[in-house]
Amino acid sequence: MISTNSFNNSRSTISGIPVHELAEQFGTPLYVYDLSVIEKRIDELSKFDVVRYAQKACGNLAILDRMRKRGVVVDAVSAGEIHRALLAGYSGDPSKAEIVYTADLFDRASLELAVEHALVVNCGSPDMISQLGELRPGAEITLRINPGFGHGHSQKTNTGGEQSKHGIWHTQIDDCLLRADQTGVTVTGLHMHIGSGTDLEHLSEVCDAMEKAAMTVGRTIHTISAGGGLPVPYRDDETYVDLDQYFDLWDAVRNRLSERFGHHISLEIEPGRFLAAESGYLIAEVRSVKRMGENLFALVDAGFNDLARPVMYGSYHPISVSAKSGDASERESVPVVVGGPLCESGDIFTQREGGYVDSRLLPAPRVGDYIVLENAGAYGFVMASNYNSKQRAAEVLIENGSAKLIRQRESFEDLTRGEMIPE
Ligand code: LLP
Repeated sequence: MISTNSFNNSRSTISGIPVHELAEQFGTPLYVYDLSVIEKRIDELSKFDVVRYAQKACGNLAILDRMRKRGVVVDAVSAGEIHRALLAGYSGDPSKAEIVYTADLFDRASLELAVEHALVVNCGSPDMISQLGELRPGAEITLRINPGFGHGHSQKTNTGGEQSKHGIWHTQIDDCLLRADQTGVTVTGLHMHIGSGTDLEHLSEVCDAMEKAAMTVGRTIHTISAGGGLPVPYRDDETYVDLDQYFDLWDAVRNRLSERFGHHISLEIEPGRFLAAESGYLIAEVRSVKRMGENLFALVDAGFNDLARPVMYGSYHPISVSAKSGDASERESVPVVVGGPLCESGDIFTQREGGYVDSRLLPAPRVGDYIVLENAGAYGFVMASNYNSKQRAAEVLIENGSAKLIRQRESFEDLTRGEMIPE
């Protein structure tokens, strides 16, 4: 079923807990995740045989642990993400395929770990097949195929077509099978991910491409992965993909392949944003309200070092005001530009692609209020940096009505760890 979301520009609680209590207890800027939202999204994907979370969207160990306990497995795109998955309790046992390393290259550390733990590898470049095969002859691999087209919410999140570095070009499957034979590895699955934040029309095109690719590989195929890319609404007029329709398209491909190959084909989906985005909020405190000509600026203590999506893609995040005291919804709404503390003009949360500053109608903010940047659970904290020597924020998980710290705010010592001044 397709539904939309509707956002308010004022908010006093997150999952029943007052915003000011969260801010006072844990400090700001603060990432807060509502586990019940993640669980709901997981349940909505239950028709797929395997839900493989793209942990790059939000990789905190506590989130991975809770996903694991709900039957969700993970992908890993780096040695660090393999470590993270193991620490969160995922098994490296290849027969369980709980962790799949999916990338377009092996750096030395990831190759070492993939071999040490005999991980299933989803190869995004022909060279990966040979590099793995040399060290692990007999391995079973999957291939990430670039079907020759792609689509994303931004050109930077489009992962298909010849402008993209991702995947194995769709006409090179035969060459890859030859490479696989030469090093004694078997291609047991195929994967396609054409981009992040796309739409049903583009996602559906992948089905045909997958079927064609699977016919080229043949009967060794046991899994097909639809990749990630499911959008979530960030604005009132945006919608979810019709999941029933999406599943039916993929199920039909899977059934045709199962019939053709004479064995069950497992159908995977690999979402990041869909599972994590709407669970997450970034709370920041308003530290200054000032007028610059026509524009009213609210400057908060979170910047693009905390949430990079607006500066990076011009992404829109719903923003709400939580009053320090009283109810923000009773105030008059005024156009506000929301910016952060960084020494850079681009440190604006209300901007369009290209860096154009926009304003947002918000209850007139006052110093000491909180601004809540919503739908910030995916590609939020994980893209945070220490730019301007800012400490990365704390993270909190709300579970069964209580707020639990799942990552400490960084300290000043963390900021200089590993640095040294030579004699
Ligand atoms: N699988 C693969 C191979 C991917 O590369 C990605 C995302 C996903 C799954 C998950 O895609 P999702 O379901 O989250 O759309 N930083 C950008 C998004 C980059 C996505 C990179 N790959 C953003 O903030 O929008």
